[in-house]
Amino acid sequence: MKKLTTAFGAPVVDNQNIQTAGRRGPALLQDVWLLEKMAHFDREVIPERRMHAKGAGAHGTFTVTHDIIKYTKAKIFSEIGKKTQMFARFSTVAGERGAADAERDIRGFALKFYTDEGNWDLVGNNTPVFFLRDPLKFPDLNHAIKRDPRTGMRSADNNWDFWSLLPEALHQVTVVMSDRGIPKSFRHMHGFGSHTYSFINSENKRFWVKFTFKTQQGIQNLTDAEAGDIIASDRESHQRDLYESIERGEFPRWKLYVQIMNEEDANTYHIHPFDLTKVWPHSDYPLIEVGILELNRNPDNFFAETEQAAFSPANIVPGISFSPDKMLQGRLFSYGDTQRYRLGVNHSLIPINAPQCPFHSYHRDGAMRVDGNSGGATSYEPNRHGEWQEQPDFAEPPLAINGDAGRFNFREDDHDYYSQPGNLFRMLKPDEQQRLFENTARAIGGASKEVQDRHIGNCSKADPAYGEGVAKAIAAL
Ligand code: HEM
Repeated sequence: MKKLTTAFGAPVVDNQNIQTAGRRGPALLQDVWLLEKMAHFDREVIPERRMHAKGAGAHGTFTVTHDIIKYTKAKIFSEIGKKTQMFARFSTVAGERGAADAERDIRGFALKFYTDEGNWDLVGNNTPVFFLRDPLKFPDLNHAIKRDPRTGMRSADNNWDFWSLLPEALHQVTVVMSDRGIPKSFRHMHGFGSHTYSFINSENKRFWVKFTFKTQQGIQNLTDAEAGDIIASDRESHQRDLYESIERGEFPRWKLYVQIMNEEDANTYHIHPFDLTKVWPHSDYPLIEVGILELNRNPDNFFAETEQAAFSPANIVPGISFSPDKMLQGRLFSYGDTQRYRLGVNHSLIPINAPQCPFHSYHRDGAMRVDGNSGGATSYEPNRHGEWQEQPDFAEPPLAINGDAGRFNFREDDHDYYSQPGNLFRMLKPDEQQRLFENTARAIGGASKEVQDRHIGNCSKADPAYGEGVAKAIAAL
């Protein structure tokens, strides 16, 4: 049986009674075990994620089933049958770390693939689109959907005031208010990379790509009433479902598909290919099957793995890269920056975040550098040893850009925020449309009449029946 020690290895003599001056006396400062235990406890909480604070994670495997090497040289896709270890974290967006899982919200779908040439993170959602087109609005989105600065409570008025003032948000709002706004569990939802990314093949040719993960468990959702009943008795319903299904050996699976656009087509395609509020219809860019993702091992420790996991869209590998999507570009800064604050400058060395391939960098020192700090290896470059040199063979093809530097209002170039939400609305069956109206009414019910009318106006522009249905449902509340 292992024995209790202090953090520094000395035996702990008594873990029940503090040292006091006499049987009834006050505590003694020399009870250093009390001081150590209390001081550690006092520092146990780290900042929660600014968004997506509540989540659950699992380890898994990605296996290639179809050949896409003509589009990308990424090692993860290099041959059929190839397996890559990965870690996934699913989350809700708006709630804090203790929030209930079965809330109406987007779900995060963050994946970290430990590839042979570094970690590739795909930090997506369960929706193919997003509320915004410009990263400057992201802190405002956060403030509008989180707690009101005066009351400390969530505010339907703030939330819907903001959404309804951004017509480009209507597509995402429609998804979130539809049946898909409350997945039954993390296993029963699709995942999307959402942004357009680059694929680069071995001839250094670029393609534009979007990623879709289709759940093999089938889509299943909860109504507002079902979710309310679940939350009343279980705030961890998604987390529990994921954990228990993996413990039972029922490993959840998703099939990965890509949509591929030739680089030059981006100039002429009628939908702006780097607009995160729009999808590429499958009729124009069909889904190409790639492989299967399976989650098959629960973390041994929630904090060490799930809480300390740091996903970042900046983590790309040869064969996969960015696109001019302004939102993606904004995210490239935000994640590493927040993780340097949330976990520290050496968060890349925490085992869940560290690459599983060899890695050598000249970064040194910093708080919590616990891996030996590269010992006596040279810490500068160029150096006379010729070690750890840059790798020009991996240079990406140049990205052609043009135009003057400036702040461009996308609303002047693109007025079509309504056709895709309208198409989505028209695809829904009558009972699905009715639930969309009623879900919206319940969610916007606490907002002012002005805000409600503005949202109804936006819905009507997508489809008059959408606006009318929401108006009637609000009136019937
Ligand atoms: C988490 C910022 C847009 C998906 C986060 C975090 C920040 C952030 C600061 C917390 C990260 C951490 O503490 O580790 C932003 C900004 C955005 C943006 C500035 C836009 C400019 C998006 C979009 C998606 C997304 C478009 C999906 C397509 C996620 C997910 C997480 C997350 C899944 C949780 C990752 C995890 O499980 O650890 N975001 N975000 N975000 N974001 Fe974003």
